[in-house]
Amino acid sequence: MAAPNIVILTGAGISAESGLGTFRDEGGLWAQHRSEDVATPEGFARNPSLVVEFYNTRRAQAAEATPNAAHAALARLQAEHEGSVTLVTQNVDGLHEKAGHRDVIHMHGALDGALCAACDHRWTAQLVMEVGMTCPSCAAPTARPDIVWFGEIPYHMERIEDSLAQADTFVAIGTSGNVYPAAGFVQLATMVGAHTIEMNLDPGENVSLFAEARAGTASETVPAWVEEVLG
Ligand code: OAD
Repeated sequence: MAAPNIVILTGAGISAESGLGTFRDEGGLWAQHRSEDVATPEGFARNPSLVVEFYNTRRAQAAEATPNAAHAALARLQAEHEGSVTLVTQNVDGLHEKAGHRDVIHMHGALDGALCAACDHRWTAQLVMEVGMTCPSCAAPTARPDIVWFGEIPYHMERIEDSLAQADTFVAIGTSGNVYPAAGFVQLATMVGAHTIEMNLDPGENVSLFAEARAGTASETVPAWVEEVLG
């Protein structure tokens, strides 16, 4: 039998043990900031300094953070599994890459990216962005963090849906199942007959849609699952 094609979705919970806060857990980012203020195009138009500062802080935290055992296990899975391994992340922290994972699909953008709000050109963000930085392509003073905000369309959806259509196994790790379209991937995977597993500290909103749920910290559940897959 051919080795299974695996599609993995990660969320903020996989980076919690690397010291990065999640969004919706107690004391999480959305308890400290209103998402309408710092994660919408309207919030950016109203108060660009607040938004740029919010992502500067997060970029600095991510730059200091190191991957944990869960990131490392997924990188090992990619290196050693015979079937395909597609990693889709909602995270913007770059920890999968630091763990050695290649070709990570960043559906919500990345902290190390800058985007021109005028011409859509993208480039590597400097550690500290400022309001009104100019775009290296069109020279407009319209640089912003390359993060997908609420009301914007996530990146790489066609590629993600193509991978889900071929999936034999779909695993969601450390995501609360609140934000679509990511929260609906389990349904797409189920439709093509994939086995679906949720790995979370607390069950996500959409846990009932998964065939299997494994509770625990990502640094425990993910390496154990990778061992199982690699046999
Ligand atoms: P959430 O903060 O909504 O959910 C984090 C999940 O991780 C929860 O289900 C926790 O139970 C779980 N968790 C916490 N610590 C964990 C650990 N050590 N091991 C395993 N699981 C753990 O974060 P996301 O689901 O990633 O979007 O949020 C999705 C999107 O909403 C984000 O990409 C962001 C946010 O608004 C934008 O900013 C556009």
